[in-house]
This record gives sequence, structure tokens and C-alpha cells, in this order.
Amino acid sequence: MENYKITLLKGDGIGPEIVNQAVKVLDKAAEKFNFTVEYDEALLGGCAIDATGVPLPEETVAKCKASDSVILGAVGGPKWDNQPGNNRPEAGLLGIRGALGLFANLRPSVIFGPLKSASPIKDEIIGDNMDIMIVRELTGGIYFGERGRDDSSAWDTEKYSVAEVERIARVAFDMAMKRNKKLTSVDKANVLESSRLWRQTVINVSKDYPEVELNHMYVDNCAMQLVRNPKQFDVIVTSNIFGDILSDEASMIAGSIGMLASASLSGGKLGLYEPIHGSAPDIAGKGIANPLATILSVAMMLRYSLAQPEAAEAIEAAVAKVLETSRTPDIYEEGLTKVSCEEMGDLVCAQL
Ligand code: NAD
Ligand code: IPM
Ligand code: MN
Repeated sequence: MENYKITLLKGDGIGPEIVNQAVKVLDKAAEKFNFTVEYDEALLGGCAIDATGVPLPEETVAKCKASDSVILGAVGGPKWDNQPGNNRPEAGLLGIRGALGLFANLRPSVIFGPLKSASPIKDEIIGDNMDIMIVRELTGGIYFGERGRDDSSAWDTEKYSVAEVERIARVAFDMAMKRNKKLTSVDKANVLESSRLWRQTVINVSKDYPEVELNHMYVDNCAMQLVRNPKQFDVIVTSNIFGDILSDEASMIAGSIGMLASASLSGGKLGLYEPIHGSAPDIAGKGIANPLATILSVAMMLRYSLAQPEAAEAIEAAVAKVLETSRTPDIYEEGLTKVSCEEMGDLVCAQL
């Protein structure tokens, strides 16, 4: 029987509540699909600052590296907003992405049938099976470029190498080949030199993928097109910061940011799986957070890191079924049952 070692980084705010539900679901999937899971917890973010003085203790990196995969809740919150930039909870998140070499962030925006009416976008615009995969570069660009501050100014640098763009482009083209063979590369090549290098590099890589239909779009237009006609997209590949923004936008088409999962991959087996949302300080501790983004991130982990695709599909099917009747407040609609974070976790387990 396969045994997987999973490191849990529960983090701050709603992080612990949502990760606890994801663990319950993973345990249920293990029981059903005949594998076992061993958990270890480590500190990341504000909780790590409180306990050790830094947002990413070395022990956390070591534990993650020694595991088959990592599940992360979320980090950050007002308590730590006045920390110096390099010692904020968010710096810990960037640090672990860098330390594990997680350059490829997959953020699927899929609408579950029962949630169509929870989306602010009209039914006919969404269509029957909106399914967009955003491939976000995760260890380069302005997040990792040189930054600084003097008495009267501050700066951050958007810098990409050909090698960095090539490897994320390959992930996106490979993904497109497994899907509908359509790739949109999003940049700001009308203004940014780094985007011109991005675009040229993507075009060069496209020569190895003659079957994929490639188009280029400026990020401002893409932000608009996502709302005007999301059906035109299959796979989107973009830089770190553009991917951050566009994926939050795409989440709302799917009904709520509480629904969007993500996988951060390094090219090897080890991945980090986390919802795209943050620590939601406004609802932390109230028991009303939507745990489905984290539960669906576990499904991605089963698919991309643990080679258990049937367990992944079973979790996704269970989520779809539960949504027919029960909702956390962020996706609640009249006539259905309003449930807490914990009840949602229990319902998905029961359905599994
Ligand atoms: P956020 O995603 O935490 O919250 C935005 C809004 O969405 C809030 O109203 C929140 O209540 C709601 N929301 C988010 N997740 C939800 C869920 N699962 N269920 C129901 N509602 C949910 O973004 P923010 O408010 O801009 O950031 C809060 C903190 O989180 C900041 O410190 C930020 O840096 C951090 N953050 C962390 C991550 C991460 O750890 N990956 C991601 C984004 C933001
Ligand atoms: C995300 C978050 C992070 C990011 C922050 C908290 C560093 O917004 O995972 O989307 O910008 O990557
Ligand atoms: Mn974000």
C-alpha cells in the first residue's frame, strides 16, 4: 500500500479551518482508494513570525523538502501588516515557493454546474462548461526582482530570463496539448521590455507545438475579455503578477474565490497545493469559510503529485454533488442549506 508524507502549512486566519477540512477529505479518500497518509505540520507566515521571529523557518523548508507534497492554507493578516517587507508573512510564502523551485502555478477556473446561478456573470456568457486553466509563472518577475527604497522613492523590478519564460511556456503548451490545444499568452508587450522578451520566447517555443493554436493578448484586454467572453479561453499563460490578478478575477466567474484551487509545481513530483485566496481575516474564526478551494487543491495534489487520479476525480465529483444542496455563505442561494466550514467538509466526506 502506498504511504504518502504530507506536510501541512496551515498558516494564518482561516488557514487552519480550511486545511482541517481538506485533511478530513484526504483521509476519507485514502480509506476508499487504499493508500495511507502521514502528516507533519510546519510553521509558515504570521504564526511562524510569532513563534520564531521569521516567516519561513529553516525547519519548514526541510520538512517540505522531505515530504511527497505540501498543503498550504493561507498566510498573512493585519497583525503583521507593519512588519518590514522582507519579514512579512507573505515573504515566507514567496520564500517557500523559491526554496522548492515551484515555478509553475496551475490555477484552474472551472464552474461547477450547480454554481452557475451563484456567478455574477450571466448564464449564457458562462456557457455550460467554463473551464480555463491559468498557468502563472511563480518564481520570477516583479515578485523576485530587485527592489529598494530611499528617502523619496521606491522601486520593484520586473525581470525575466529567456530560460524562465521557456520553461513556463512549455508547461502551458503541454497543458494545452492535453486539453483543447488553445493557448493565450498574456503580456503587456506594448509597454514592457520584459513582455516583449516574453512574447518572442513564447513564439519560439510554439514551434515545438505546431498543433497548439497560440494567440497573444495584452493584460488589460484579457481582464476585460474574461468577463465579456470567458468561453474563448482554454489555457492562459502569464507572468507572476498578471497571473495573480487574473486568477482572482477568474475565480469570481466560477462563483467565489472560495472555490479556486491551485497547484504549484517544480517539474519534479513534489508540489505545493493551496487555494488561491488569502487568510480572509474578516471571517477568520467564524467557521464560515468555504473549504472547497482547499479540498479541490487536495484533488489536484492527488492528480499531479501522488498519481491517484481516481481519488482526485472522486473528490471533484463529491464536491459537485454536495453543491447541489449545501453551500457556505459565500456561494449560498435561497432554498438551499447554509452550512459551516466544518459541515461542508463532513458533507464532502459523506458523499465520498
Ligand atoms: P483574501 O483572499 O484573504 O480575502 C478577500 C475576500 O474574499 C474577503 O472578503 C474574504 O472573506 C473572502 N474569502 C477569501 N477566501 C474565502 C473563503 N475560503 N471562503 C469565503 N470567503 C473567502 O484577500 P485579502 O483580504 O486581500 O488578503 C487577506 C490576507 O491574506 C493578506 O494578508 C494577504 O496578503 C493574504 N493573502 C495570502 C494568500 C496566500 O496565503 N496564498 C493569498 C492572498 C492573500
Ligand atoms: C496568491 C497571493 C500571494 C501572491 C501573496 C500573498 C504573496 O496573493 O497566492 O495569490 O501574490 O502570490
Ligand atoms: Mn493572489
